[in-house]
Amino acid sequence: MSARLVLDSGCGTGESTQFLARALPDCTVIGVDKSLARLSRTGAQCFPHVEDNAVWLRADLTSFWRLAQQAGWQLERHYLLYPNPWPKPGQLQRRWHAHPVFPALLELGGRLEMRCNWEPFALEFAASINHLLGVHVAPAEPPEQPVLSPFERKYRRSGHRLYSVVVVVDSGRVK
Ligand SMILES: C[S@@+](CC[C@H](N)C(=O)[O-])C[C@H]1O[C@@H](n2cnc3c(N)ncnc32)[C@H](O)[C@@H]1O
Repeated sequence: MSARLVLDSGCGTGESTQFLARALPDCTVIGVDKSLARLSRTGAQCFPHVEDNAVWLRADLTSFWRLAQQAGWQLERHYLLYPNPWPKPGQLQRRWHAHPVFPALLELGGRLEMRCNWEPFALEFAASINHLLGVHVAPAEPPEQPVLSPFERKYRRSGHRLYSVVVVVDSGRVK
C-alpha cells in the first residue's frame, strides 16, 4: 500500500473510490462512508475492505477527519463528492463548510475537490475556504467526463448544473 493517500469522503456505494484507485495506481485511495447499506453495494460483507490500492471503511467522518488530523495524516487528494446539502436554513451548521470539524478537514491538506449541484452550497464552501486559508477560490463547472460518482451520473442525466470547488490546501495556513 502506498503512503500517498487519497480520501473519498462520503463515498456512498464506493464506485468513485474504485474509479479513483484505478486512475491513481500509485496512491492508496480510501473511501469512507457511515452507511453500511451504501458501502455493501461494493459487494463486501465487512469493513475495512481492501481491493488492490482501494480501501473502503465504515466511519463517521466527523470523528475520522479529527483522528486522521491528530495522527498527522497529509493527503495527496481529498474528494467530497455531492455531500449532503442540508438545504434548510436551520441546517446550516450541518453543511461541512460550516461544521466545527471543517478546519481539521482542511489540515489534512492536499488537493481538495468538492462537487455539488446547488450553487449556494458551492459559494458558501468557497467562502469558508477563502476565509480559513486566505485564498481566493470560486466554484467552476466540473468536466462532463469522466463521471466520478453515482450522484454525478444522476444529476448529469437530469440536466442539473454542477459546481466544483478545488483548492490545493497548504495545511499550515488554516486559521
Ligand atoms: C449524497 S450521498 C453522495 C454519495 C457519493 N459521494 C456520490 O457522489 O454518489 C452523501 C453520502 O455521504 C454520507 N455521509 C453523510 N454524512 C456522513 C458522515 N457524517 N460520515 C460518513 N458519511 C457520511 C452518506 O451516507 C452518503 O452516502
